[in-house]
Amino acid sequence: MLVLGIETTCDETAAAVVERHDDGQATILANVVLSQIAEHAAFGGVVPEIAARAHVEALDLVIATAMAEAGRDFGALDGVAAAAGPGLIGGVIVGLITAKVIALVHKKPLMAVNHLEAHALTVRLTDETPFPYCLFLASGGHTQIVAVRGVGDYVRLGTTRDDAIGEAFDKTAKLLGLGYPGGQRVEREAARGDPFRFNLPRPMLGRQDADFSLSGLKTALRLEAEKIAPLTHQDVADLCASFQLAVVEMVVDRLRHGLRIFRERFGVPCALVAAGGVAANDAIRKALLNLAAQEHVALMVPPPSLCTDNAAMIAWAGAERLAQGLCDGLDSSPRARWPLDQVGALLPGPRPHATVKADGAALSSHSSLVGDRRGGEPRDCGPKAPHTSISTIDPFRPAGEEDGVSSNTVPSAVA
Ligand code: KG4
Ligand code: ZN
Repeated sequence: MLVLGIETTCDETAAAVVERHDDGQATILANVVLSQIAEHAAFGGVVPEIAARAHVEALDLVIATAMAEAGRDFGALDGVAAAAGPGLIGGVIVGLITAKVIALVHKKPLMAVNHLEAHALTVRLTDETPFPYCLFLASGGHTQIVAVRGVGDYVRLGTTRDDAIGEAFDKTAKLLGLGYPGGQRVEREAARGDPFRFNLPRPMLGRQDADFSLSGLKTALRLEAEKIAPLTHQDVADLCASFQLAVVEMVVDRLRHGLRIFRERFGVPCALVAAGGVAANDAIRKALLNLAAQEHVALMVPPPSLCTDNAAMIAWAGAERLAQGLCDGLDSSPRARWPLDQVGALLPGPRPHATVKADGAALSSHSSLVGDRRGGEPRDCGPKAPHTSISTIDPFRPAGEEDGVSSNTVPSAVA
């Protein structure tokens, strides 16, 4: 199954071609990422309007490059996937419309992929990790602990009450004059700093839930920096190291509780998985390795280049959905907000019209047939793989007709 993926939710314009083999293994044939860092650097962060325009200018060439690297033409694709949210809405519109046009012209199924779901499933692209697993998802906009039980079957166990971890790294970088993007720069400074010089708070430590909070840590860091301003290079490095250590200790504590809650609710996880840009941080990766050993669970983390935003993960999430018989109509809406645990949830309402065929034949005529269904909800694209999950089954089908599998069924490809 050959899928083109498109990613434009933030400041990377990316396209990738991924092949999903029948046994569940994957081959990345092309993975092109064009960063917009230069366009945004002068502003100290991503400017949504500039991002959207830069996606418009670059996307055609990025897609053409990916297709050329893969050595395939559009006709060879089995589907086209684009990140349909959550993200900066201008960029999301650019990527989703482009995918719709390719799908329409070449009569291919469209998969409107949730960007967070793509992060969540990346570890199956790299390592065929079986369900269920406990996911630590940490990016610029999200910090969550999630039970991943199947494609489209996500239960949030914990989340941040204020800032995301990536956001806290970015704000720390800005405060200390390190510029944008922040995460890698803070990590680099931390490597030469003293993590014990500043005694920063570890919010939420020891609480029985699996939630995060970053704002107190951020404020404490600012107060410490103000106390000793003007800052020397060593002060900056020590502040970064102290901040990173506080984050690492909080992450470990929160995940310990997250794993306990996972076991109480769902049994033993097949793995502890980290995903999202923050999972590229080496100190966090090492701490997770120790935690996993103590908790007797395997740790799976994609390589850093597949933790930060890329289109291979979008193509893969599209392929996983297509393998379940799921694709989306051309009426799918771009979404600025789209919580992961709402992915795959079908809204109540009239039954969507006929099955969309895997060759995409019915793709262009759906908007008038869907009643009050909102764009972006999954449709049946034809034959299903043996696995399905509770939130991806057709809710209009009479009970007892779920292909004889339950939400806990392990997909045959990874069993
Ligand atoms: O997943 P991602 O590439 O984009 C979003 O979906 O947000 O994550 C970007 C976030 C940024 O906040 C960035 O500062 C953070 O991930 N990040 C890091 C590192 N690399 C990226 N944070 C800490 N250490 C890193 N090495
Ligand atoms: Zn991301």
